[in-house]
Amino acid sequence: KQIKIFSPATIANLSCGFDVLGCCLDTIGDEMKVSLTDTPRISIEIINGANLPTDPEKNVAGVATKALLEHLGKNVGVHITITKGIKAGSGIGSSAASSAGAVWAVNQILGSPLKAKELIPFAMEGERAASGNAHADNVAPALLGGFTLVRSYDPLEVIGLPSPADLYATVIHPHIEIKTSDSRSVLKKNVTLEQAITQWGNLGGLIAGLYTNDYGLIGRSLKDVIIEPLRSILIPAFKEVQYEAVIAGALGCGISGSGPSIFALSKGREIAHKVGQFMGEVYATTKLDYDIHISKIN
Ligand code: HSE
Repeated sequence: KQIKIFSPATIANLSCGFDVLGCCLDTIGDEMKVSLTDTPRISIEIINGANLPTDPEKNVAGVATKALLEHLGKNVGVHITITKGIKAGSGIGSSAASSAGAVWAVNQILGSPLKAKELIPFAMEGERAASGNAHADNVAPALLGGFTLVRSYDPLEVIGLPSPADLYATVIHPHIEIKTSDSRSVLKKNVTLEQAITQWGNLGGLIAGLYTNDYGLIGRSLKDVIIEPLRSILIPAFKEVQYEAVIAGALGCGISGSGPSIFALSKGREIAHKVGQFMGEVYATTKLDYDIHISKIN
């Protein structure tokens, strides 16, 4: 018996929601095949994922699967084939897609003992292996779809959020690699009260905008006064790309996850495409290769 799935890329943070907000993309992701084997061990095969480890103790899908099997008390053999559609270090949840996809498919092949939400802690173990930090803001939307909020890490509480019908994401990925651990190491441990007030005002505003289909409010809330100023220096031409996205009509624009990808949200597919064109023109004038993805957020 074999299960074949598509595990989506995700945008984490969405500017004002560092480590707590994320959303799911539907046009880019990993393809995964999972089958049960006779020998009780996990084996991993990777297609298209240069440099990723296949040792199940080091591979994020292996780590997440092991955590799930231990929890379920299942001593079964699992073979996982991952065809990477997402590049590692691109900022759109590469490790999360593999971790979340693995636990989703393994749970399904075992007769779905757990619900999607209950799989989040095991997928988070893959994130811990990848970056040293078990954040859930990519694995939660990868498993649940749409927008998700991590209301609390301890105890873990994840809330699925609604998405306005016409909301589209444009993601541009300049071809440099930024490791999440590196891009976390530039962050400061403390924020000022003033920064915190601005940030939680925007986070509340963004969530209110999602619930009330208020695109203007969503746009005004897509701001980040804490993380973006520190991380944006790692991303070539970030300010120019952000400026062009807004000129093209995006509601807002920021760093996708830990970068280097940059995301913009727009009302309507046409604007999302125009935003992609404008963003791309910034990199077209440099020698940097890039790719662009447009997704409806469901
Ligand atoms: N919230 C995480 C970070 C996402 O920004 O470091 C990493 O993919």
